Amino acid sequence: MKHTITTAIFAATASLATLPALAEDITVGLLLPYSGVYAALGNDIEAGFRLGIERYGDQAGDSIQIVTEDSEAKPPVGLAKTRKLVLQDKVDVIAGVVSSGVLGAVRDMVDGSKVPLIVANAGNDEATGAQCSPYITRMSFSNQQVNRPMGKWMHDQGIQKVFTIAPDYAAGQQMIGAFVDGFTAAGGEIVGQEWTPFQKTQDFGPYLAKAKASGADAVYVFYAGGEAISFVKQYDSFGMKADIPLYGAGFLTSSLYVEAEGPAAEGVIAALHYVPTIDNAENAAFVEAFTAANGRLPSEYAVHGYDAARALTQALAAGATDRETIAQALRGVSFDGPRGATSIDPATNNIVQPIYVYETVRGEAGLTQKVLATLPAEADPAGGCAMAPAG
Ligand code: PHB
Repeated sequence: MKHTITTAIFAATASLATLPALAEDITVGLLLPYSGVYAALGNDIEAGFRLGIERYGDQAGDSIQIVTEDSEAKPPVGLAKTRKLVLQDKVDVIAGVVSSGVLGAVRDMVDGSKVPLIVANAGNDEATGAQCSPYITRMSFSNQQVNRPMGKWMHDQGIQKVFTIAPDYAAGQQMIGAFVDGFTAAGGEIVGQEWTPFQKTQDFGPYLAKAKASGADAVYVFYAGGEAISFVKQYDSFGMKADIPLYGAGFLTSSLYVEAEGPAAEGVIAALHYVPTIDNAENAAFVEAFTAANGRLPSEYAVHGYDAARALTQALAAGATDRETIAQALRGVSFDGPRGATSIDPATNNIVQPIYVYETVRGEAGLTQKVLATLPAEADPAGGCAMAPAG
């Protein structure tokens, strides 16, 4: 890495003992979907990341360059783009990855080439479980973390029978699996399950017909992005909402696209690690800055990008200068951020954070998120992850 000329001159005149950490040019590769059903998510993560660098970049003392690549949310494309970022662009760190499928595909490349990856969305449990790596740190959420506590919470509300629906890929399977574990452990019953082809389903009618006929008290789903918009609208137009309330992982009614869902989203209850209505000073400042820069409220995706940038700047401020030291320093990150107390568990490199249960309601300025419950932060179980301690 090149040291900047000004710092090099300064360094030459300073005594070795008092030398400050030299400023570096740090290159970040943003690997995000800019096309496909998750394109809007990728754009929001990038907007949050850029805001985080603007807000915290000075503390890093380094100049941070950004290169972007479109993963298309497709595992083979994501892997090819990761190779390019690592081998051709020689990035110091990668941030991003939205799809759990892409995270699974790039895991070995990242681990083998020892390039730090700050996961800014994909919840794939394996990446901080059996397939964990000192080079993978997650600033977003894990699929089990968001859904595990919701099973018990729903059963506590008196819901006995649930039908589940989700896209048939890693994230859908893991999110629904964790919900089902929590719900059945609390005494609930799963009366049916459907899996829809990922990125290929436009008509959810056949799946909704099965849910309607199942005798369920509630339907629980995971959908995100373009698929979430279609699903929520079709659930309503199919006449389901009045009879069987809709619950889910909170990406379903994300503030990023809830206005596109419109009245169909009203009354949906969901669990998530961030909503823009969280009441704390860090979030108020973030919402104000993000809205001023982008003309819309931030979403969970924006906060993943923002916090990923903050984690990187914290690692650089702590003296990290290259791939190895950045990866190590990321494992010790912690701060009070927009979602509340946020830290990395160095046993798995997954984030630890509270989970919010929220209802989409109509407010004065449109649809908004009413927080119904705050479920305490819990570190994920190690899940087969055995890493040397950070250090
Ligand atoms: C995932 O594939 O892990 C994923 C994608 C979109 C979301 C959440 C999780 O909103």
